[in-house]
Amino acid sequence: MHVRDTVTGYGIVSRGFHWLMALAIVAMFVLGLWMVDLDYYSPYYHSAPDLHKSVGILLLIVLALRLGWRLASVKPSDDELKPLERTAAHIVHWGFYALLLALMVSGYLISTADGRPISVFGFFSVPSPGENKGLEDAAGAIHAWIAYSVIVLAAVHAAAAVKHHIFDRHPTLSRMWSGPPTS
Ligand code: HEM
Ligand code: HEM
Repeated sequence: MHVRDTVTGYGIVSRGFHWLMALAIVAMFVLGLWMVDLDYYSPYYHSAPDLHKSVGILLLIVLALRLGWRLASVKPSDDELKPLERTAAHIVHWGFYALLLALMVSGYLISTADGRPISVFGFFSVPSPGENKGLEDAAGAIHAWIAYSVIVLAAVHAAAAVKHHIFDRHPTLSRMWSGPPTS
């Protein structure tokens, strides 16, 4: 089993980061949409946003680790892609990192605009940069737009991966799913 990435595929660490985060991001999107419509008398009125914020901060930490790992790793070869596809894949992959960072920072700003810290499952707290009431709405609108953009981008990205797998018969999806070929 490959731990690190090689020119022929992704190692277990990159694959773990990729699929864990993909699952968590979709779950966070669904949770976010559901929780903003809860009314004050719902038993989840406080616990759902607490969960969303705690998981969000953990995902920010995971994103930083993932980015560090990505920068320190070799990139599996994309020579089989046409130049236009290769450029599109680069834009989408780096676009994901930029959008996810902005998503998490905007989420942090909504949550801390009232001056209160974020408690991450009660284990540790992330302090507020200071009270800034006006920021809450602007950061909330930006957060929602970025969340929708990430999901649209993920759908296009997944469709491209499936297209390469089924129609072009390239190992793009298998090297992200099962890693570099063993033989
Ligand atoms: C994977 C990352 C995340 C995703 C996919 C995500 C997604 C969402 C979505 C879809 C909403 C509902 C937006 C709306 O319709 O108004 C939302 C709301 C919210 N999110 Fe996130 N979020 C993420 C990370 C975070 C983080 C890191 C925090 C804070 C630390 C956070 C805090 C909030 C808060 C406070 C709201 C409620 C905003 C309001 O009341 O309008 N989110 N999120
Ligand atoms: C929210 C969901 C997703 C996000 C944020 C995401 C993000 C990324 C990123 C940033 C990369 C670049 C490699 C890296 O830095 O780790 C990547 C590669 C890849 N993703 Fe996703 N992904 C998501 C969902 C999916 C889904 C659903 C599929 C397949 C159905 C998929 C298939 C792939 C494949 C095959 C690669 C490798 C591409 C290559 O080697 O050129 N991803 N993804």
